[in-house]
Amino acid sequence: MQYIPPNNLRGHDLASLLAARGLAPDWLQVNDFDPHSPQNVARHTYSEVAALVPFHYRSAVPTLPELRQWIDVLVAAAKEAQAARNAPMATVLHGPSLLLLGRVGTGKTYESYGAMRELAVTGVRAQWHVTTAADLYAALRPRHGIDSEAEFRTYRDAPLLLVDDLGAGGKPSEFTEEVNFRLINHRYERQMPTLFTSNADADQLRDRLGDRVTSRLREMCQRVVVKGTDRRRAA
Ligand SMILES: Nc1ncnc2c1ncn2[C@@H]1O[C@H](COP(=O)(O)OP(=O)(O)OP(=O)(O)O)[C@@H](O)[C@H]1O
Ligand SMILES: [Mg+2]
Repeated sequence: MQYIPPNNLRGHDLASLLAARGLAPDWLQVNDFDPHSPQNVARHTYSEVAALVPFHYRSAVPTLPELRQWIDVLVAAAKEAQAARNAPMATVLHGPSLLLLGRVGTGKTYESYGAMRELAVTGVRAQWHVTTAADLYAALRPRHGIDSEAEFRTYRDAPLLLVDDLGAGGKPSEFTEEVNFRLINHRYERQMPTLFTSNADADQLRDRLGDRVTSRLREMCQRVVVKGTDRRRAA
């Protein structure tokens, strides 16, 4: 774990995230020079997350209670595993997944990035990979000079994965079906926490993903419906 000096995270709008976890506003400023201290783990994890969060969502904060509960479960599991293994720090490796369902513009992506940011300040190591489903398929399409299996493994093996807009774009192809199945089956079998969002409804999702993927998603994910209207229209 790399040591990150405390002043690196100024200007990141962290006060509300820290408050939501019951942490003091200056909690991240504690400087004990211990690379495994929860504060340093949080600084390190947050700086990685900040590089993954798009500019538009840079101040996102989760508002749905289900997301907060999910974070609690992941943090508790990481701490339990740390105690069991006597490890120097707690790391998120196993846990339930979440499927955020809702219409266009209701806030699914916002909530997802908010959850990433909030989990990052808890002092538990959380290593994310982030993609939209469309970008995932594009990145994995076999093409000259690219080892698409190696690329696939970076998504498959990411300790935490956000797959935004699953089931978007209508009819699946044989290729997208295979990617979905291989990715989701792997993470299902190993109980690797994954955050999915989709604006398809339950029937559309089954049509687009197929029975085998839908069945696994049902077992591995808590479904959360994001209600409301298109927030972009209000803007
Ligand atoms: N709780 C919130 N507070 C403030 N702004 C929000 C909140 N939730 C969403 N927004 C804003 O509303 C807009 C739509 O949110 P978002 O992009 O998350 O929608 P979405 O459900 O992912 O839509 P799509 O299905 O089109 O991807 C964005 O500009 C986002 O920043
Ligand atoms: Mg979105």
